Amino acid sequence: MQDIVARLEDMRGRARLGGGQKRIEAQHQKGKLSARERIDLLVDPGSFEEWDMFVEHRSSDFGMAEQKVPGDGVVTGWGTVNGRLVFVFSQDFTVFGGSLSEAHAEKICKVMDQAMKVGAPVIGLNDSGGARIQEGVASLGGYAEVFQRNVMASGVVPQISMIMGPCAGGAVYSPAMTDFIFMVKDSSYMFVTGPDVVKTVTHETVTHEQLGGAVTHTTKSGVADLALENDVEALLQLRRFIDFLPSSNRERPPLRPTADEADRPEPSLDTLVPANPNKPYDMKELILKVVDEGDFFEIQPSYAGNIIIGFARMQGSTVGIVANQPMVLAGCLDIDSAKKAGRFVRFCDCFNIPIVTFVDVPGFLPGTKQEYGGIIKHGAKLLFAYAEATVPKVTVITRKAYGGAYDVMSSKHLRGDVNYAWPTAEIAVMGPKGAVEIIFRGDIGDAEKIEARTEEYRQKFANPFVAASRGYIDDVIKPRNTRRRICRALAMLRDKQLENPWKKHDNIPL
Ligand code: HXC
Repeated sequence: MQDIVARLEDMRGRARLGGGQKRIEAQHQKGKLSARERIDLLVDPGSFEEWDMFVEHRSSDFGMAEQKVPGDGVVTGWGTVNGRLVFVFSQDFTVFGGSLSEAHAEKICKVMDQAMKVGAPVIGLNDSGGARIQEGVASLGGYAEVFQRNVMASGVVPQISMIMGPCAGGAVYSPAMTDFIFMVKDSSYMFVTGPDVVKTVTHETVTHEQLGGAVTHTTKSGVADLALENDVEALLQLRRFIDFLPSSNRERPPLRPTADEADRPEPSLDTLVPANPNKPYDMKELILKVVDEGDFFEIQPSYAGNIIIGFARMQGSTVGIVANQPMVLAGCLDIDSAKKAGRFVRFCDCFNIPIVTFVDVPGFLPGTKQEYGGIIKHGAKLLFAYAEATVPKVTVITRKAYGGAYDVMSSKHLRGDVNYAWPTAEIAVMGPKGAVEIIFRGDIGDAEKIEARTEEYRQKFANPFVAASRGYIDDVIKPRNTRRRICRALAMLRDKQLENPWKKHDNIPL
């Protein structure tokens, strides 16, 4: 027995060393933690249960039979984050560059399957040179097995990808199908084809960082949701993030007790909206002042800034926040913001997270760039997402709600449950100036007449009362009471039941 235990300890020791001390040091020199150090930071101390530590690859070509490392380049298992179960796979770059063999893929699939059965999130810590080149098609098959599970798990358990090293070629498509992608600055990159291939094909000279670094994907492409400074910050933020999410689509969002009173008034909000309707103000101020303890986890803060999305809590329970940001493009909806918010609304709907929407939107962004880029189809994504969502939907219009964008932003007509407006709200087909220029075109030369008509239109429509008289707005509320009114609405909606008609799946305008 003792011999066996000693052997076991020896094997465990070998597995824990992965590709060896020298390679672990090389990893540290790059500013990266090892696969196991990352897991230790992510999960609660002592909670990690490792699986498949002794799994080895089965390939024998290119001298691989003599190069076997227990665990085969990925550490898998489960643990807890602040007491809540998560499944984790952490690729070990010290073993064949974290490349994915058939056995490596099987390990990932095993934790994904188990996570689905018990209803817990899957977190991937990605650091891999892609398909294990020595294995050829067996490795491609392994990827496809993971892809298939990503799709089956979508909407069932949250899937989060943390990119902490290379992620290239077809390998990017597993993270792409997960719910959120976070990246570490300077040490991670994602691209379909690397700088060398780009140079050959398009003659562009570009670095890894420029082509697919964390900054690129969180500012230009919108592929990633957050860029974190380093491994430690990334993993600590991931722990904070997990706290907001339900473990599966079978659960309500987690509750975190708060000392922040539900009926806390916020008098400063009474003066948030400037008297001049063309002057911007910071919508983030409203969010921070309304949510529990000012704790807001913003997603994609540096991409499509004209819309703000993220998680917060109201009376201890998670909500998804969607808000137009008048500071960027006057809060117009455009292609990028519609895609950004549409995907977020769908995530919330999948996982029973109520959606709170703050509206100040002058309309859709005009221009050839938008039309040629397909704003019709992309804008429809957000409309579609709100319309199909059955979770509680609470909407507050702070100022402008013009045109189609009024409809889109969780309006009553799209089954908004509780729709409030501040007294400063302007709900109409378009702004007074534009409206008058169209309906009184004949008067264009007469500045005085136009001024009078504009004022008349403003008086008539640039307020919340026409919409309220039709019941499109449930009440006009004082800004200072926004938190109280939202908390009450969410409490009333706690047991909301609403189902869409049976269908195989919908056909959202992709
Ligand atoms: C096997 C690999 C590997 C791979 C790296 N290694 N990638 N082994 N298969 N895909 C090994 C290296 O041989 C090396 O082993 C160790 O990992 C570290 O690699 P280095 O090159 O020394 O590290 P670095 O300089 O940091 O460069 C990392 C890298 C580079 C940029 C990832 O290794 C690289 O370009 N690798 C190949 C990437 C690739 O083309 N992958 C296939 C993509 S196609 P030693 O023993 O020297 O330490 C793909 C298709 C997926 O993934 C399709 C899904 C549908």
